[in-house]
Amino acid sequence: MNIGIFDSGIGGMTILHQAMTLMPRENFIFYADTDHVPYGTKSREQVIAYVDEVLRFMIRHNCKAVVIACNTATAVAAESMRAKYRLLPIIGIEPAVKPAVAESRGRRVLVVATPLAVHEKRLRNLVERVDDAHLVDLLELPGLVEFAERGEFVSDNVTAYLQERFSGYALDRYGELVLGCTHFNYFKDTFRALIPPQIHIIDGSLGTVRQLMRVLDARHELAETAAGQGVDWEQCKNDICVRYFESGREITDAAKLGRIGQLHERLERMRKI
Ligand code: DGL
Repeated sequence: MNIGIFDSGIGGMTILHQAMTLMPRENFIFYADTDHVPYGTKSREQVIAYVDEVLRFMIRHNCKAVVIACNTATAVAAESMRAKYRLLPIIGIEPAVKPAVAESRGRRVLVVATPLAVHEKRLRNLVERVDDAHLVDLLELPGLVEFAERGEFVSDNVTAYLQERFSGYALDRYGELVLGCTHFNYFKDTFRALIPPQIHIIDGSLGTVRQLMRVLDARHELAETAAGQGVDWEQCKNDICVRYFESGREITDAAKLGRIGQLHERLERMRKI
C-alpha cells in the first residue's frame, strides 16, 4: 500500500520530504497537479474539482492514506472530500497559527498564504478561535508560488517582491512568521535574511506528518521504523520508494528526476533554518 501526497505543484514536496525522513519504510506517491497550478488564485469550485480528481487517482493507486499537502486545497476541500471518501484517511495541512500565537509572547504574528486560503472561512475561523488578543495579520504572497514553480528560489526579484509585500508592516513588532503555503518553505533563506532576528519562522509540515503517523498507527497501518524517530536524510534518500506524477503522468525522465533530487536537497537545507 502507498501513502499519497499531493499539491498543486512542488510545494507539497515539503511534506513528502518530512515524511520520507520520519517514515523511511513507507512507499509514497507524490502528485503535483502541474496542469492546474496555482490553486491559490482559482475559485473554490475549481479547486474542489481538482482535488476530487487527484483523490480518485490516489484511490486507484492503492493508497492507504492521502495527505493534501496544500493549505489552500485543505481549506477549500478537505471537509467535503472526507464526507465523500469516508473510508480513506485524508490528512490536511493548516497554517500553524495556534502554536505561533502561543509562542509569540504578545508580539504580533504574520501569517503568509495564498489569496484563496486567506479569504477562506476555515483560516478566518481558525484565527478567530486562537487569536484572543488580535495579534494575527494575514498577508497574501501569490508571487512566491510562481517563483517556486519556475525554480527561482533566490534572486533579486524574489527579494524585491518580498520587500514590497512586507513594506506596510512594522516587522520589529512581530515574533512569528507562519508559512501558510507549502511552496513558501523553499524561500526560508530569503525570509530569514529580510526579517528581524527575533521573528521565528514556523510551518505546519512536521505537525502534518505526525498527524499522518498517528492516523496510520491507529489503523495498524504504519510501517515500522527503526526507532520511530526518523533517519538522516543522507542515509535514507536513495532507499525510499517514491513515484512522482505530474497531473497523473508518471515522471520517468532522468533529467526531471534529477531536478526533483535538487529540490529535496534545497528542502533539506531550508529545514535547518
Ligand atoms: N502549495 C499550496 C498551499 O500550500 C498552494 C499553492 C498554489 O497553488 O497557489 O497553499
